[in-house]
Amino acid sequence: MNPKRAMLQQKIKHFPVLLKEYIKIFEGLEIEFFLDGTVGAAGHARAILEAHPEIKTFIGLDQDQVALDLANENLKPWMSKANLFHENFKNLDKVLDEMNIEFCDGMFFDIGLSSMQVDEPERGFSFRYDADLDMRMDQNTEITAKDIINTWPEKKLEEIFREYGEERNSKKAAKEIVEKRRRNKINTTFDLIKVLEPVLGKRRKIHPVTKIFQALRICVNDELNSLKEGLNKAILRLREDGIIGVISFHSLEDRIVKHTFK
Ligand SMILES: C[S@@+](CC[C@H](N)C(=O)[O-])C[C@H]1O[C@@H](n2cnc3c(N)ncnc32)[C@H](O)[C@@H]1O
Repeated sequence: MNPKRAMLQQKIKHFPVLLKEYIKIFEGLEIEFFLDGTVGAAGHARAILEAHPEIKTFIGLDQDQVALDLANENLKPWMSKANLFHENFKNLDKVLDEMNIEFCDGMFFDIGLSSMQVDEPERGFSFRYDADLDMRMDQNTEITAKDIINTWPEKKLEEIFREYGEERNSKKAAKEIVEKRRRNKINTTFDLIKVLEPVLGKRRKIHPVTKIFQALRICVNDELNSLKEGLNKAILRLREDGIIGVISFHSLEDRIVKHTFK
């Protein structure tokens, strides 16, 4: 592993969230097949494999190849049962078909970005670093945040800022972007912050561009549609008394999760 990645791995060691609660929801469940749709750096994966030595086949998916490389490292002790795929969890049915698995006993989704993705400046997810406006979780995705910011019509920008960012000033923000990009292309995170400062204001406790960044990221990665599709497929591929665990981060995800399991 290269030194930078090793450093990142050190950093993320402490990050699997709600670990105790996670283990608790699968307590008492006899698990043969387990699918983790967002394996990331495999913090939760390790925990479930330790707590359930009866697991015969562990399937880990992630759309980020960098995360999968880390998962590979971290799951070395379980390599005989761990199967990792560079795949969006909305395609979990294809992966299960490929493995000839009809139903899983347990599934888990820890939705959203990892701290590792946020902390890698060149991924362009964070307003803390000046970087190319990328924001792709999957490096094979064709569209980047830079494409959206520089080519999408004003109405469409306003719509995503409102729907995916719940940004009060979505109209003003979209207008300002379209005006400014006529003169200069908006290439980086700091370019975008500079453009938006006059309409959203300067730094406060929560950075004023937080919601715009969230909206762009959700849009680039088509996150909400993947979540809907993935959870619906998960339900179809879960054994009758199996368990699905989901950790969501913001209210838009939360709404989809609650609606799907109603
Ligand atoms: C919060 S992190 C998961 C951390 C993981 N539970 C751990 O213990 O390290 C979310 C991960 O899910 C991945 N991800 C997000 N949406 C995805 C999707 N639709 N399909 C596959 N992976 C996805 C991200 O690339 C990221 O690595």
